[in-house]
Amino acid sequence: MKTKIIKIDTDNFVADDLNEAADILRNGGLVAFPTETVYGLGANAMDNEASKKIYKAKGRPSDNPLIVHIAHMEDMEVLVEEVPEMAYRLAEVFWPGPLTIILKKKESVPNETTGGLNTVAIRLPANRIARELISLSGVYVAAPSANISGKPSPTRAEHVINDLMGRIDMILDGGKATLGLESTIVDLSEGQPMILRPGCITQEMLENVIGPIEYDPAIVGKAPNRDIKPKAPGMKYRHYAPEGSLTIYSGEIHDVINAINSAAKQMCENGNRVGIISTEETKNYYHYGLVKTIGSRKDEASIAAGLYAILRDFDELHMEYIYTESFAENYFGQAIMNRLLKAAGYQLIQV
Ligand code: TXA
Ligand code: MG
Repeated sequence: MKTKIIKIDTDNFVADDLNEAADILRNGGLVAFPTETVYGLGANAMDNEASKKIYKAKGRPSDNPLIVHIAHMEDMEVLVEEVPEMAYRLAEVFWPGPLTIILKKKESVPNETTGGLNTVAIRLPANRIARELISLSGVYVAAPSANISGKPSPTRAEHVINDLMGRIDMILDGGKATLGLESTIVDLSEGQPMILRPGCITQEMLENVIGPIEYDPAIVGKAPNRDIKPKAPGMKYRHYAPEGSLTIYSGEIHDVINAINSAAKQMCENGNRVGIISTEETKNYYHYGLVKTIGSRKDEASIAAGLYAILRDFDELHMEYIYTESFAENYFGQAIMNRLLKAAGYQLIQV
């Protein structure tokens, strides 16, 4: 299949620029597009054949449901049995934006889209290109992250090109995804609200709007809990993973730097290719391997935005061992550490 790439300037485009992409979606094809979190791989959510194409292009397990992206809040009512009051409150505060809400689905939403579940995940993205595209296409757009399953999510068009060129109809290149981590997922399908995936909208921000909300017990902690199944099927898969072996070092920052330097020195001396994920504050203290800076500790958002790109960069450089500092676990940090731990296969060294 030939994949057409179209560059769109987020700050300066007209709806007409998206006509061809919207046509593809309406006709059951696949279009990758930017969102504020990561790039999505879109198809008509109400067309089971189109949904199936997404799973095939990504190599995604068929039991892992897709998020349905909408352009208007009222569209939620068409997709679900009943919209609870809490859903309206969250939507009013956080949409358009990086929040996904799970509700009981209507019969008409295909099982292919929801991975056989009787619930559906819904999100109204903030990115203007995404919203215009959904609106113009006239369909609801099922869109997982636009990566090959298991790889780090794409935060730039070139990541999508690397993974999906020749497998999908079109890629809209709208520059960098500004947030860089996937949306927060909140399950409202069972009375008691629950966070199934941490993201840039934090527990505290949610609690300010709807009161107490817990994390899915299967996703908390520094080791995978094999006894409980996560409620978001996607959270059980090895994910976000670079090809090299990634280890996280946690503790007092000076001790972390020393421990990383010593591990890196040994691996370099053994002839391995070593990459180090540093921050603006620490980058000058590493002496071995290739040092890349993820962002500044003073600006957690910069770390979230840089994470996946740095993991992909190290893949391209065929790094065999990657060492990273750990990050605080409050606010954004919760989401960053959730992704980092998964990417590291939970290899965490406390120093
Ligand atoms: O920020 C995002 O959410 C991005 C952009 C493209 O919108 N999308 C994204 O999709 O991250 P994906 O497919 O990579 O992750 C969707 C997650 C998976 O873990 C999946 O299992 C979960 O959402 N999910 C989807 N529908 C669900 C449902 N009905 N019940 C529980 N989990 C669900
Ligand atoms: Mg994904």
